[in-house]
Formats: sequence, C-alpha cells, structure tokens
Amino acid sequence: MPALVLLGAQWGDEGKGKATDLLGGSVDYVVRYQGGNNAGHTVVVGDQKYALHLLPSGILSPGCTPVIGNGVVVDPSVLLSELSGLNERGVDTSKLLISGNAHIITSYNVTVDKVSERFLGKRKIGTTGRGIGPTYADKINRVGIRVQDLYDESILTQKVEAALDVKNQMLTKFYNRRAIAVEQVVEELLGYADELAPYVADTVLVLNQALEQDKVVLFEGGQGTLLDIDHGTYPFVTSSNPTAGGACTGAGVGPTKISRVIGILKAYTTRVGAGPFPTELFDEDGEALRRIGGERGVTTGRDRRCGWFDAVIARYATRVNGLTDFFLTKLDVLTGWEQIPVCVAYEIDGRRVEELPYSQTDFHHAKPVYEMLPGWSEDISKAKSFSDLPKNAQAYVKALEEMSGAPISAIGVGPGRDETIQINSFL
Ligand code: GDP
Ligand code: IMO
Ligand code: MG
Repeated sequence: MPALVLLGAQWGDEGKGKATDLLGGSVDYVVRYQGGNNAGHTVVVGDQKYALHLLPSGILSPGCTPVIGNGVVVDPSVLLSELSGLNERGVDTSKLLISGNAHIITSYNVTVDKVSERFLGKRKIGTTGRGIGPTYADKINRVGIRVQDLYDESILTQKVEAALDVKNQMLTKFYNRRAIAVEQVVEELLGYADELAPYVADTVLVLNQALEQDKVVLFEGGQGTLLDIDHGTYPFVTSSNPTAGGACTGAGVGPTKISRVIGILKAYTTRVGAGPFPTELFDEDGEALRRIGGERGVTTGRDRRCGWFDAVIARYATRVNGLTDFFLTKLDVLTGWEQIPVCVAYEIDGRRVEELPYSQTDFHHAKPVYEMLPGWSEDISKAKSFSDLPKNAQAYVKALEEMSGAPISAIGVGPGRDETIQINSFL
C-alpha cells in the first residue's frame, strides 16, 4: 500500500507540478489534499505547457485517477473552466473524483478576500485574491458550503443564509459595500450542480479501498511548508496545511498508510506575496534568478521574490514533514555563477542560529550566514545521470543534501518531464 506525499519544502512554486506529473505514469491516484486555485502548477509535456490550479497534476497521465480531497476548497466556475480547457486540448478528465465534503469557494468569499486585503493596506498578506482564506474561515466557523450541499436546495439555502447573515452586516456597515442576495448565490451554486454531479464521490472510501488493494496513491500538496497555517511564517501564510499531516486530514487517510514524503526543493529560494524572507536578493543576482528561472507567478502573474538557497528552511521542512527524500529542482538555473552563496545559518542580534527560530521577531531579524560554493558554467540541461553533472554541480547537490537532512533522490535540470536525473526511485 504505497502512499506517497509530495509537497513544497519552501514557499511554494518549487516545481511540484512537474514532479507530480513525472510520477503520474506510475501511480494509480493523484490527490490534492488542501488549498484551492491559489495554486499554480506548471507541467511541460513535449512542446505542450499546462498550468493547473485546482486539478491534480496527475490528470495529464491517462492511467491515473485524479482526486480532489475533502481538504481542498473548490471554486466551481474555476474547476469547470479548467476541465473544459483541458478537454479542448484533448485531455480526458472523465475519471476525476471530487469529495462531497470539500468546501466551496463562493463568490462572496472571493469578494471578502479582496475587500479585506484592500482594507489591510500596507499590512496586507498579498493573497492570490481567490477567496481561499475566507472559505477556510467559514469552514472552521461552521458556516461553510460543501460540494454535497449543492444537491439539497433547502439545506443549501439555509447555509447560504447563515453565512451571509454576518457577512452582509460586515460588507455594508464596515466595508461600505452592497449586501449580497441569498437567492442570487443559491441560484448560481445550483447552476453548477448537474455538471459536477458525475465527479462527486466518497473519496475517503475510494482511496482507502485503493490502498487496501495495493494501489499507489500520490498526495500532491499545494503551496509549501513555510506557507502552512501552523508551521509557516504566520500570518504571511495560506489558510491550510500543505505540510505532510495535511494529507491525512485532507484526504481521510491514516498516517500509518503514508510510506514516503518527498519534499520539492528549489536549488535557490522564491516567494510570492508579503512576509519575511532572509535570503531575499535586491540586486542583479536576484534579477538574474528571476529572469533565468522564469520566476513569475502562474496564478497571479506577479514577479516572484528571489534569493539564495536557505538550508535552515530546508532542515525545518525535513523536520516538520518527516521528509524521506528531496526532489531538487531548477539546478540548471544556477549555471553560470562563479560562486554560489548558500545560507547555512542565521545571525540574529549577534547570535549564530542553526535552526528556524520559533519567534517571529527573531525570524524578522534573521540575517543569512553564507557559505560560498564553487559554481559551474557547463550546460547541464541534457544531463541524464548524476555523473553527467560537472564536479562543482555534484558538490553543490551533495552540500545541499548534507545541510538539508534528507537524501536528494531526483534533480531537475529543465522544465520538461525528461529533464530529470533520477538518483533513487520514489516507488
Ligand atoms: P509548483 O507550483 O510547485 O508546481 O511550481 P510552478 O509551476 O509554480 O513553478 C515552477 C516553474 O519551474 C515552472 O515554470 C516549471 O515549468 C519550472 N520547472 C520545474 N522544474 C524545473 C527545473 O528543474 N528546471 C527549470 N529550468 N524549470 C523547472
Ligand atoms: P503553488 O501551489 C506561491 C501565497 C500568496 C500569499 C499567501 C496567501 O503554486 O506553490 P492565499 O491566496 O493562499 O490566501 O495567499 O500564500 N500563495 C502562494 N505562493 N505558490 C502558491 O501555490 C501559493 N498559493 C498561495 O502569494 O502570499
Ligand atoms: Mg506554483
């Protein structure tokens, strides 16, 4: 019963889509367990490029069943347009399963996300504006709308009423907005019911039965460890648990079933939105990483903030996720630097600190302590095995592995499926 979790070890955009797609051909199910269409996962197959937001990247592998788990928040209009976009490109999406317990991102939650960010002004989180936070807030407040509610008009109406009761007060009295009519929301949501019906399933049962039958299940995280609501750089985080435990709650699979946890790790660091980022660069090196790495958000089109590799964060990701492996991505982007700085520790108010400080104040004050590693100039994008890499690139990977605390089992040397060096098998 091999169940694997694949998740971001940094602040998202590590290359999870590519890694999931690579495994998609060998697994039976790929499951999203948290987040929603705040994610932007890029998959490059031959000359075709796909940007997936809500659908698991396994949808591009014909033998694989894609699953949207109970922990995901679903914007039905985004889901349907993503499905039709793939259908137009000849991708069969008919196997998709959606948990009836997944929560729905309603149009009023998109509105609340946008107005509350505007209200925060300088203190804003820099959310993707997709309604993610307000939808999870409704879930925890027990006024959320679930996929299964679309199939009981009376319950749906009561729930929308309950949710809008307080929100309309807030929108009209506090944010100076117009109230939202219950009937309008109910009508819009009911309009999705028939189209979604063929996909809705008891995904907890399906996945557990699959594991009993020795099927291979891959859980694909959205976002990354440092964006986790509990373990990330709160409050500059997303509103769900991308860390490994989230796969259990977000899919209804017990922790004893998880056999491997793979952390996707970029060979440098990026972040989108606000919040602390110790190795962030504001110079031409940062600009070069952005340009060479194509570091522009897949969901919002915002430029990503770029910086050197941070081993403190990688160690932390190993710990909070119980990582068994790393998949190091974008090593090719670092080609051409004579020396590559790697952050091995922080200096905080004159002290050297080796582990991620639990105090936000300390983290805000953290200055990177760099070790310089020798670079390489050879093109590595055609490398097929570790020994094909120049000696300095090999040494860079080995140094990162040693500092990060888990074996690097695969290395990305380009965006394509085949631009990967597999060192240890994941299955
Ligand atoms: P995700 O959100 O973790 O799936 O990552 P994104 O798709 O948002 O961003 C990763 C970007 O890097 C995408 O444009 C990928 O096509 C690209 N990518 C992934 N792996 C590699 C790699 O090894 N080398 C290069 N050059 N690009 C990569
Ligand atoms: P993938 O899956 C990078 C960031 C946003 C913002 C914060 C909260 O592609 O790695 P939200 O809309 O979730 O409430 O925004 O989280 N964020 C991401 N950053 N990659 C992502 O997803 C992200 N999803 C959310 O930029 O800082
Ligand atoms: Mg992304």
